[in-house]
Parts: sequence; C-alpha cells; structure tokens
Amino acid sequence: TTEDPPPIRRLADWDPAQLRDLAAEYDTPLYVLDQGRVRENVANLQTAFHDEHVSYAVKANTVRRTLETVEDAGLDAECASAGEVQRAVDAGFSTVRYTAVNPPSEDLDHVVALHEAHPEIDLVVTIGAVDTLDALVERDYAGPLAIRVNPGVGAGHHAKVTTGDAPKFGVPYDRVPDLADEIVERGYDLVGLHAHAGSGIHGEDDLAAHRELVARMGDLARDLDHDLDFLNVGGGLGVPYHPEQDPLDLDAVAEATRDAAGDLDAQLGIEPGRYVVADAGVLLTTVNTVKPTPETTVVGVDAGMTTLLRPAMYDAYHEIRSLADDADDRDEVTAMVAGPICETADVLGRDRRLPRPECRDVFAIGNAGAYGYEMASTYNSRPRPAVVSLDGTGETSVAVERETLSDLTRLEGQQ
Ligand code: LLP
Repeated sequence: TTEDPPPIRRLADWDPAQLRDLAAEYDTPLYVLDQGRVRENVANLQTAFHDEHVSYAVKANTVRRTLETVEDAGLDAECASAGEVQRAVDAGFSTVRYTAVNPPSEDLDHVVALHEAHPEIDLVVTIGAVDTLDALVERDYAGPLAIRVNPGVGAGHHAKVTTGDAPKFGVPYDRVPDLADEIVERGYDLVGLHAHAGSGIHGEDDLAAHRELVARMGDLARDLDHDLDFLNVGGGLGVPYHPEQDPLDLDAVAEATRDAAGDLDAQLGIEPGRYVVADAGVLLTTVNTVKPTPETTVVGVDAGMTTLLRPAMYDAYHEIRSLADDADDRDEVTAMVAGPICETADVLGRDRRLPRPECRDVFAIGNAGAYGYEMASTYNSRPRPAVVSLDGTGETSVAVERETLSDLTRLEGQQ
C-alpha cells in the first residue's frame, strides 16, 4: 500500500534552489503551481470524504492546467459564472454545477446555449432566486435544477467571506419547500439542494457552524416532498496560512459532516476550492528597495495587492520567506513587505522577521495557489504576472504568460 500524501505542504517544504531558478528563468512576480501537489490534495480529500461526492470550486484557481489536473484526478466542477462554466467545459469536465449568483442575463444565455450544444455534459443549474427560474423558463432551459439555500448559518476566516448567513446568497430556508414545488410544477427535474457556510473554515467555532449548516440541510432534504439526487453542503475547508497553525483534520471534518447530515436518500457532497490548490502554489517576488525607517524596515518588492489581493482585502496572513542562498548567515530584521502600488493597503506582510533583505533577493510567499492569480488585477497599470506549472515529474512550463504593457490598452483599440 502506498502512504497517504502529507496533509499539507508548508512554505519551508519547497526547494529554495528550485524556486530561485524559476525566478531567474521566468522573472518575477511569478506564480508557481505544482500540479503534483494538487493531485495529492485531491487524493487526501477523496480518502477522507470516501462516501461523499467531491467537486472543485473552480473560482479558487481557473488556470487551464490546474483544471485539467483536477478533472483528471476525478473531481467535477462547481462554477459561479458563465466564464467559469466555459473554462470547465474547455478543460474537459463532463459534470458541471453552475451555481448562479444573481446571474446576469448573458450568463444564462451562454449556459443554456452550452447545455443545448453539449447534451453529453451533465450540467445542473443551481438557482438562488425565483427570478432565475423565470429567466430559465423564458430561455426554454430544459435541464435539471438545484436550489441554493440560505441556511441562516455562516462561517469563515473573515466577515467578507462568511456566506451562509448573508442575505445575498440563496433562497431563505423557510421558502425552499415552496420553490421546490414550483420547480417541479413547471416540469423541471429538481435534483439537489446546495448551501455554503463560507470560506476558510478552521477553528472550533467554524466547525460548529459547519455542522449546524449540514444538520439543517439534512433536515430540509428529509422534509421535502421530492426525491433528490444530491445534497451539497459547500466548500470552505481552511488551510493553515500561519506556520504555527495546524492543518485541518480532514477525517474528523468528514466524519462530522456525515454525522450531521444524518440518514439521507441523496448523495452528500462538498465543493472545496482553496483546499485543492492553496498549498500547491507560491508567489515569487524580487526585492527592489530596502528602506530603514524609524518604525520598521520597509522592503519594497515587485508583487503587490494587484498580484496577491488577499492581505489588502482580508488582512490575510501569508508566510514570506527569503530565498537568498546565504539567508542563514544574515542577522534578522523586523520588516514590512510592501508592493509597488500607490495605496497604503499595498502591504503583503507586516512585522515579519526576515534575514536582513538586500536588493535583488527573491522572496517566496506561501499558500498562493488559491485566490491568488485569480484575484489579480491591472490596477496602477501593472500587467498581471505569469504562472508557471510544475507537472509533478520535474517538467516546468508556462501556464499563463506574463501580461505586457501593450496588453493593458489592447481593448482600447486604435485611438
Ligand atoms: N462553493 C461556493 C458556493 C462558494 O461560494 C465558494 C467560495 C466555494 C464553494 C469554495 O470555497 P473554498 O473551499 O475555496 O473556501 N477570495 C476569498 C474566498 C472567497 C470564496 C468565495 N466562495 C479568499 O481569498 O479568501
């Protein structure tokens, strides 16, 4: 028997020499994605959730190479927009869940057309408002439907990603039975219920909220007058961003999820995004300036909030490590690692103990595989970084090319 892959990969587990070489070859800022680690994460999820159905929430990382890895490893795709559905189909997924959040009409047009053109793809549209049902009827959508439920209980690493109790998402719990009846009366196949507590479930409180959500959803599924194929209780599995944080006990979470759901005639499912890709990615960045100030040493790097938004947006912690080959011989300083964007929020890390940084040092930033490249922007007219992919057997290739200055004005045409 082969051993289970390690539960997580820490930043310290990456080979500094290999990362330095990648920075030299492909320039920085650079996202590095290890498809071998993506496969390990999928394997760990499948082992823990052996009786459940596991989908990948593609929003965490939609790079084609990643989607192909995840598809090949046997998960299906949960998508939040027509663009994500299209990418999932292009990458070869044959089972696609489209969770429509206040869907723009173009998204519905696109997804309905795709459903008609590709009857071989198992597509389910999950609706969170009765207006979406009307809009689908108008478009003669004939495929299966599921209901996005607002379970009234949420969890997550930050208020901005706590979903289950946010009125924006899903049909209020008490109105689900009526909507279910209406869906069936309109001649649709109602195949599932779906809810999502939030993102970055980690501590005891989060897990308690997750259990409560699952229990509520189990009750709802049992009370409904309709047979369902699936009950999806969302994603949200957290990863340790801080080196001192423990990894989630996946077996325990799976067990708790199973227990809380109770006896079901439907298949229980989860749809993690972050867990599949976070520790499979690092962001490499080069030091441009080192400035002593009365408060701290400000280390200016070439990645910023446009490269990795999470610190600015959620005060998220990402581990930062110097890859300097003589790092062990340097004394340590307390530093602020700041990007090149003209915004005070453009700080990737504060109060970090780092081997005294020098210009041209390369830093690695951990857990950058989830919601990293995906949330990058071109604010301050900064081209987005490149993404290189390690295929898990030693081959490296460019998965997404670096944007150029001329890409920035491409859509303005000739003026
Ligand atoms: N399912 C649904 C319906 C979702 O809305 C989400 C995430 C997921 C699954 C996947 O959640 P995960 O397993 O990745 O936690 N940009 C934020 C995270 C936003 C998540 C939004 N929805 C961050 O960087 O923390």
